[in-house]
Amino acid sequence: MLEIDCVTKRFGGLVALDEVSLNIAEREIVGIFGPNGSGKTTLMNVISGAFPATSGDVRWRGASLSGMRPDQIAARGIVKTFQNPQLFRELTVADNVRIAGHLYLKSELGLGRALTLFPGQRRRATDAELNRRVAQALELSHLDAFASDPASSLSYGGEKMLGVAMALMCKPDMLLLDEPGSGLSHDELSALSVVLRRLRDQGMTLCVIDHRVGFLGKLADRAMVLFHGSKIAEGPPQEVLREKSVIEAYLGEQADA
Ligand SMILES: Nc1ncnc2c1ncn2[C@@H]1O[C@H](COP(=O)(O)OP(=O)(O)OP(=O)(O)O)[C@@H](O)[C@H]1O
Ligand SMILES: [Mg+2]
Repeated sequence: MLEIDCVTKRFGGLVALDEVSLNIAEREIVGIFGPNGSGKTTLMNVISGAFPATSGDVRWRGASLSGMRPDQIAARGIVKTFQNPQLFRELTVADNVRIAGHLYLKSELGLGRALTLFPGQRRRATDAELNRRVAQALELSHLDAFASDPASSLSYGGEKMLGVAMALMCKPDMLLLDEPGSGLSHDELSALSVVLRRLRDQGMTLCVIDHRVGFLGKLADRAMVLFHGSKIAEGPPQEVLREKSVIEAYLGEQADA
C-alpha cells in the first residue's frame, strides 16, 4: 500500500535518512523505533510531504507522492497527527473536532465556494454530514463523554486523543502518529492502544513512532528500527527488539545521555 523506496534525506551535510526502504501493507500497524535523532520524525515528514526526499521515492497505491504538498498527500488519505495539536482550549471538545472537519472539507471540496453557490440546502446537508462524522470521531477516540466539555479540561492523554479525533476528520486511510504515547500514564497508554487497535479494525493502516517500547512493541504487527538514519532491523517487534544491534543502539543512546 505504501512503498518507501530507498529514501535518503540530507540536511546540509547531515544524512538524516540513508537509503531507507519499507513497505507497509493495508491494515497493518508498523512501529518505527530508534534512539533520539535516528531519523524517525524525518521519515514521517518525508511521507507526509512536509519536505521532499533528497533521493528515493515514496509510492502510495502504486503512485509516486514525490513533489506533492502535504495537503495533496492528506487528500489521498495519508494523515499525520500533530504531537501537540493546536487546540482551541476555550471551545468544546466536539467543536475542536468540528473545526478540523471544516478545515478539511474546505480545503478538499472547496466548500467555501460551494456554500456561496448553494447557500441553504447545501449547508444543511453538509452540517448533518459533519455532525455525523464528529460523533463518529469522538466515539472512535473514546471522547464522547467529554464532547461538551471545554478542551482545556482534558487531561494530557485526553488532549492527545483529541489530536487523533481531529485527524480522523480528514478521512485517513493511513495515520502517521509521532510519539502518541509520550507523557501518557500507564492507563492512558492502555486506552490509546485500545483506540489505535480499533482504528485498524475499522480498516485503517497505522505507522507509529514511540519511545515507549513496551507499548509500541505490543501494539505493532511489524517493527522497523532506525539508527543514525539507517534501517538496522525489521520484523516482528518482539524479535527485533531483542536483536543485539538494536539493544546496542539503545544502550549507546543511554550511555551518551
Ligand atoms: N528540519 C531540519 N533541519 C536540519 N536538521 C534536521 C531537521 N529535522 C531533523 N534534523 C536532523 O536530522 C536528524 C534526525 O532527526 P529526527 O527528528 O528525524 O530524529 P528522531 O528519530 O525523530 O528523534 P527523536 O526521537 O528525538 O524525535 C537529527 O540529527 C536532526 O537534528
Ligand atoms: Mg522525532
